[in-house]
Amino acid sequence: MIMKFPNDFLWGAASAAYQVEGAYNEDGKGLSIWDEFSQIKGKTKHNTNGKVAVDFYHHYQEDIKLMAEMGLKAYRFSISWSRILPNGEGEINQAGLDFYERVIDELLKNDIEPIVTLYHWDLPEKLQTKYGGWENRKLVDLFVEYCRILFEKFGAKIKYWVTFNEQNVFTSLGYRWASHPPNVSDTKRMFQANHVVNLANAKVIQLFHKLVPNEKIGPSFGYGEVYPLTSSPADVLAAVNANQFNNDWWLDVYCRGYYPEKILRLLKKLHLDFEITAEDLKVLKAGKPDFLGINYYHGGTVKAPDFEKVKNQKDFDKTDPYLMAADKQAASPESYLFESVENPYLDKTNWGWEIDPIGFRIALRQVYEKYQLPIMITENGLGAFDKLEDGKINDQYRIDYLNDHLVQVGKAIADGVPVLGFCAWSFTDLLSWLNGYDKRYGFVYIDRDDYSAENLTRIKKQSFYWYQKIIESNGGKL
Ligand code: NOJ
Repeated sequence: MIMKFPNDFLWGAASAAYQVEGAYNEDGKGLSIWDEFSQIKGKTKHNTNGKVAVDFYHHYQEDIKLMAEMGLKAYRFSISWSRILPNGEGEINQAGLDFYERVIDELLKNDIEPIVTLYHWDLPEKLQTKYGGWENRKLVDLFVEYCRILFEKFGAKIKYWVTFNEQNVFTSLGYRWASHPPNVSDTKRMFQANHVVNLANAKVIQLFHKLVPNEKIGPSFGYGEVYPLTSSPADVLAAVNANQFNNDWWLDVYCRGYYPEKILRLLKKLHLDFEITAEDLKVLKAGKPDFLGINYYHGGTVKAPDFEKVKNQKDFDKTDPYLMAADKQAASPESYLFESVENPYLDKTNWGWEIDPIGFRIALRQVYEKYQLPIMITENGLGAFDKLEDGKINDQYRIDYLNDHLVQVGKAIADGVPVLGFCAWSFTDLLSWLNGYDKRYGFVYIDRDDYSAENLTRIKKQSFYWYQKIIESNGGKL
């Protein structure tokens, strides 16, 4: 099919510092909460950690050469806060700034647009131990100060900046499910941390607009449209609830500067350790993004729960993702609740994630029609077991996955959605936060497993050559 992508469409790929860099304590880098968390036995598969990862720190020239060979137009990567400020505040580590400057210059030399993520989950450990991390409002100003250094240093070289990567994911997994650092399982604390991150996001956008007025900034959000299981109005209402709690909760704050009324009411009831003040709401209003980054993997499907059962259930949390925890006395649980179910129409990946390319088109349409901001696809890709056979990786399944998703991006563009670019996750294989090196996403295979990081040879997969052709034809070969 011939798809019409804009001439300046950014065909890209993405990564994150902790997942690729390694060199976790080299050249003055401080530790991050992930360096600490991965030391807790049993938290990650085979106790994998990012000490070496795929050693982008020492292989960046080789990797960028491969990007250039592929014809990549953009590379999204994150900056590690504790490489710039080992303590999260105070003294700057010049060697850290120099490293990113070398990476940026190498990309630019090869006509690859750097897209920089300011925060991809690796908070400096010192900010966690000293201040309690994102639950403390102090973090807002500390984050702004860290970003100021980067805007001043790289503002003239970088056109696209991402504030926070998947705030919805790191606050939920870190503070509600204790499967990410800081290893907390407390709904109230999650809401608190989330509010502080919202303020940091808005404040940093304001600063950026002052310091770098000609370039663009926005958050990257993990978006998935939630479907009703059936057309029964009760299921449809459950899906409306789920979309509000999973998506609008964050996107309304980012793009419109307010919490949905129902959410604000619940937040107030929670008795956070601080008030959500009128001043906070002003800050949120003043920090609107220039684009929205969307990470898309899959959506969800829900039905209306059995309300009688729910009412008698001691722990509302079991049915509702989190809101009933805040409002156990809710007069009308049907205005909050939904129950997640499998979608009978969708296949799954090796890792049990639903495969839903049309859901991508729906997501792009919904987000654009609601918020009217250009969209940068900051992640999409397939995690799979790849096999190295006779020196080759035949990942046709990844090609099929990406092809199907890109076709839907093309259709969304034809529907009128302004999409700036597409960053496949990921360029090379990299460390999965919890799943080590079994779960691979890259166009380039890295010869290592969970136990040994001795080899690290880079091998182009079949999908590498496929994406090269897609880029060369500006999507014409999809
Ligand atoms: C989204 C995250 O941003 C990224 O770091 C992660 O590896 C992918 N999802 C795949 O799970």
